[in-house]
Amino acid sequence: MKPLTFTNDNGDFTICQPESISSLYFPLASEAGLKSAISPNLGGDAKINQEHFLLEPVSVDNLHNNRSTRNFWVKTTDGKFASITGTSASQEAQKFSETQEKSRIHAGFMWHQLERELSDLNLKATTTSFVPTNETFEFMLVSITNTATTPQELTATAAIPIFGRSADNLRDHRNVTSMLHRIRTDKAGIYVTPTMSFDERGHRLNHQTYYVMGFDDVGNTPKTFFPTVESFIGEGGSFTHPRSLFENETGVTAGYTCDGREAMGAFRFETFNVAPNETKNFILLLGISDGEQTIDRIKNTYNSLEIVQTALKETKTYWQDKVSVNFKTADTDFNRFMKWVCFQPYLRRIFGCSFLPHHDYGRGGRGWRDLWQDCLSLLLMEPKDVGEMIVNNFKGVRLDGTNATIIGEKQGEFLADRNGISRVWMDHALWPLMTTKLYIDQTGDISILNKQVSYFKDPHIKRGTAFDSLWNDEYGNQQRTTTDDIYTGSILEHLLIQHLTGFYEVGQHNIYRLRGADWNDALDMANENGESVAFTAAYSGNLMELASLIRLLENKTGIESVEILEEIGLLLKNDTEIYNQIDRKHQILEVYTKNCQHKVNGNKLKMSLSEISLNLIQKANWLRHSLQEREWIDFNDEEGWYNSYYDNNGKATDGYYNDRQHMMLTGQVFSIMNYVATENQIKKITTSADRYLYRKEIGGYRLNTDFKEIKTDLGRMFGFAYGEKENGAVFSHMTVMYANALYRRGFVKEGWKALKSLADTSLNFETSRIYPGIPEYFRADGHGVYHYLTGAASWYMLTMVTEVFGVQGKTGDLILYPKLLAEQFDENGKASIVAQFAGKTLEITYDNPNRKEFGQYVITSAVCDEEQLPITDDTFAFITKEKLQSLDESNHHITITLQ
Ligand code: G1P
Repeated sequence: MKPLTFTNDNGDFTICQPESISSLYFPLASEAGLKSAISPNLGGDAKINQEHFLLEPVSVDNLHNNRSTRNFWVKTTDGKFASITGTSASQEAQKFSETQEKSRIHAGFMWHQLERELSDLNLKATTTSFVPTNETFEFMLVSITNTATTPQELTATAAIPIFGRSADNLRDHRNVTSMLHRIRTDKAGIYVTPTMSFDERGHRLNHQTYYVMGFDDVGNTPKTFFPTVESFIGEGGSFTHPRSLFENETGVTAGYTCDGREAMGAFRFETFNVAPNETKNFILLLGISDGEQTIDRIKNTYNSLEIVQTALKETKTYWQDKVSVNFKTADTDFNRFMKWVCFQPYLRRIFGCSFLPHHDYGRGGRGWRDLWQDCLSLLLMEPKDVGEMIVNNFKGVRLDGTNATIIGEKQGEFLADRNGISRVWMDHALWPLMTTKLYIDQTGDISILNKQVSYFKDPHIKRGTAFDSLWNDEYGNQQRTTTDDIYTGSILEHLLIQHLTGFYEVGQHNIYRLRGADWNDALDMANENGESVAFTAAYSGNLMELASLIRLLENKTGIESVEILEEIGLLLKNDTEIYNQIDRKHQILEVYTKNCQHKVNGNKLKMSLSEISLNLIQKANWLRHSLQEREWIDFNDEEGWYNSYYDNNGKATDGYYNDRQHMMLTGQVFSIMNYVATENQIKKITTSADRYLYRKEIGGYRLNTDFKEIKTDLGRMFGFAYGEKENGAVFSHMTVMYANALYRRGFVKEGWKALKSLADTSLNFETSRIYPGIPEYFRADGHGVYHYLTGAASWYMLTMVTEVFGVQGKTGDLILYPKLLAEQFDENGKASIVAQFAGKTLEITYDNPNRKEFGQYVITSAVCDEEQLPITDDTFAFITKEKLQSLDESNHHITITLQ
């Protein structure tokens, strides 16, 4: 039997003896703000943000090291005791021996249940953990069942250490910050309200209270409390061998206060009896709240078994309903895996990139790329408010084409980077257009391009190469005109600025400069001369897309011209001569960025849409051809690929040198996706990628071959061990984009190979050692790491929906263009997807009775709710926007027959 198995189609799963696997963790959270990570022994942490950690912050290595778990002890009258998390000295000593206690985890979206046989005590403990959807506390429902044949008399003690402060104080000022603690007990639990939040840049008064409360299943509150670590573990004791428990100490009562100590959410309940097979339940609430009133409300609301059970049910349903996309193919495990992939974008939105144990970096903020990736997945699952979100996100663009990198809590809020370090990621301008295009395709709302939006402003000017000494707080974070008004421009203008400025910022090979890095954050040591061929290819495609959106705007709205910021005229000069003149390009960019460095006069220039679009097409074509001419490396009749980068010494990364082949996946992905690579070149690229990068057993396509060189002229990635993170790991996001690119170009088998290898390896628990879902990357040994929080999930879902199942929007109309392989149809020849489109829930079934291969089947009929749809082309079915609008709010069935 597989170690990890799914228990239903919702993606719920179970695994035995999970504590015997290192580094496992599971996310629990609510949209109200509590973010928890829970490990098999109920370690992990819980916080609302960087400044407010209820449980001590953990990195992955603390998971085996820390003993400060969400512990709960049971003790018999004859002095035997055991921990329901397995974290006692004697239970740990039995690990890996014949007497190791049996344990099992059962989990699903945002709920986690640990079952453990406490063999020495003849008890079974089941602990269910979850965060109710709109609260900031974790529920822990502990159920103790007597498995002996005789009744037992027991006592139970909750023991959860309360960290109660900022993650910054994990080491720095750890002791001093415990002195800020004000601890009190009442009938229900223990509360810690630190006096202030310690920060030497400026201490702040604190208003948050951290608490652990408890009730039993008949509403009894604890009898005695151990509100400090010292009082619980005792002199010389430890969390695995707490003296208070061992020596039966009496503790303190409700109404006790204590200042300036490490706090502990430990309390003991009244002794209880359990008959054979009888279960006794305890309810614990672990949370953070700002105010007595909230705590009282929680205390008075959530104190009965019935309430916990209802809340659990609601939580499960809430998250299940969120994931509104569902796949049915021949492979049931894959379908269930996809449930988690579709759930992951929600996790990324809640946890950002910082708040799970592998993600031990950052302070909780989301990055620019994440903002736009989140919108991608939302467009497919909860499209309602995405338009507004997109409009707000454009407020982060600066007039020089770069963007804010510190993103505020509220939508459309971007903050000035005050530490003076300016870093420009050259790929950033790419993602907003990709997302806006998907939005227009899905909704038909082309007029979004005309929406007026402000620009971001801070001291960074001239694409991060200079400072605006005149800028100050009074100026604010929105670009102003010389008359001090906030300057606004259309979204189209924002997109033009983002794409045109990059066109002029080239290096010595006339390729877009790499600057601080591109998508690969670890290419961060070639700021002066580095160039990204990969993303130049991406921008060539984007220029083309932007041109076609402009055409569409013209056709759909009848608008012939638009007003754009006068200064942009310079970037749109129709002088193709300069394309090859690197110095001229620099001069133009210099003049433009100088003109916009502080305030702009705000004058507008009227330009015809067809002229703009022609201008972009010329630029795109020139880029495409020069990449094809200069960057393609042809090895022989079968192998060849695109160069990906130039390092700081101007040397190409890809090719044969130092006695070996050097190949990077990124250069291939974007040249394929953006029609730089020809069909013949794609064949050679895929052959080469299979030969030099593919390792099935560790997830598929690696990011690069082993350069065996610490390239300080390109980036820190070359300092990482080969096979780790950005240096040659199977990095899910890039692999998924590779698959997406291949599908777009009709290389379906090759694309599926990339997607499937990722899914197979994720699901192969023996190798991946992760719960279901897609990790950020697979290490050299195939372990999945940095689980859950990866942009790869949004892209995986996007590729499955729009490419594999071919559910594609086309300015609001729906095209169904399946690229499913024979193996993906079940034994009845069916494959189906439930997807949201135009505000309707559609269940689309592809019926391929003869299980024909992709390329061999054509569409012979399309039926929507029993109504035959016209077929104009046998490769796809088409449903108009009007038809979709006429459908009511119920679920609709579309069946496409393939013959
Ligand atoms: C992560 C970062 C992303 C970056 C990538 C490569 O990717 O979040 O911004 O581009 O590493 O360095 P993710 O795992 O989200 O795909």
